[in-house]
Amino acid sequence: MDTLNRTPKISLKDVNKVYKSKKGDVQALKDLDLSVKEGEFLVIVGASGCGKTTLLNLVAGFDSATSGEVLLDGDPVTGITPECGMIFQQYALFPWKTVQENVEFGLKMKRVPKQERQEQGEKYIELVGLTGFEKSYPHHLSGGMKQRVSIARSLANDPKVMLLDEPFAALDAMTRQVLQEQLVHIYEKHRKTILFITHSIDEALLLSSRIVVMTARPGRIAQEIVNDLPHPRNADVQLSERYMELKRTIWDNVQAEVMKSMEVEIG
Ligand SMILES: Nc1ncnc2c1ncn2[C@@H]1O[C@H](COP(=O)(O)OP(=O)(O)O)[C@@H](O)[C@H]1O
Ligand SMILES: [Mg+2]
Repeated sequence: MDTLNRTPKISLKDVNKVYKSKKGDVQALKDLDLSVKEGEFLVIVGASGCGKTTLLNLVAGFDSATSGEVLLDGDPVTGITPECGMIFQQYALFPWKTVQENVEFGLKMKRVPKQERQEQGEKYIELVGLTGFEKSYPHHLSGGMKQRVSIARSLANDPKVMLLDEPFAALDAMTRQVLQEQLVHIYEKHRKTILFITHSIDEALLLSSRIVVMTARPGRIAQEIVNDLPHPRNADVQLSERYMELKRTIWDNVQAEVMKSMEVEIG
């Protein structure tokens, strides 16, 4: 039992990822070590191009590491697993399917009987606040609503791990805030292990239990911070000294990495 509890939900050990391309090799990740505990809400922040999506793709099993280990529950990730639900910035819904059909898609694939599928679908549609839109098609929905459909669809598959790649980056500020609050609510209710990527420090501070800052490419871990801000992280918390202090520490690190990445580009 003891050893079980200590096995991280996700762990990356000495991971390197090199993309081969005609213009030469691109080292996206270098000697990266990271572990995520079960039930943790880990947010990764880092400059554009530092390897965040690469990291997530390795965990999701969409791609494999050039060297090193990527483990889920202590076992090597060898391909896409239903354990992980992935949510992208671009909603990736089936445009020809209704909200309900999109949400039920994974359950249909698993041959869950129609009645049960419908009940599950409705439950998650309600959880993300889309009751009444079951029969709508994605092109009739706003960006925020589409992203809520993606979240409901992911949750309907009951993943143990949710991987989110800048899911709210394309949304306006107010919609983003509503979805952030919803995600915190879902996390508190379902306690999934969450690996969330963003380039917004405020978003990281609002959502996470721990924050990891990545270095400029090739990506490694530059800094780890336990986010001890109290919940709910309302306006009072966001104006507190501790908030400002954490924000400044992270910003200093991110800024240093952005500068480095610019130097690399300018050469
Ligand atoms: N399939 C690919 N082939 C070649 N280079 C790639 C490929 N995917 C990503 N890269 C490069 O790897 C680096 C990291 O990319 P990515 O993981 O998408 O970064 P981020 O998500 O942090 O913006 C970037 O320099 C990017 O151009
Ligand atoms: Mg990315």
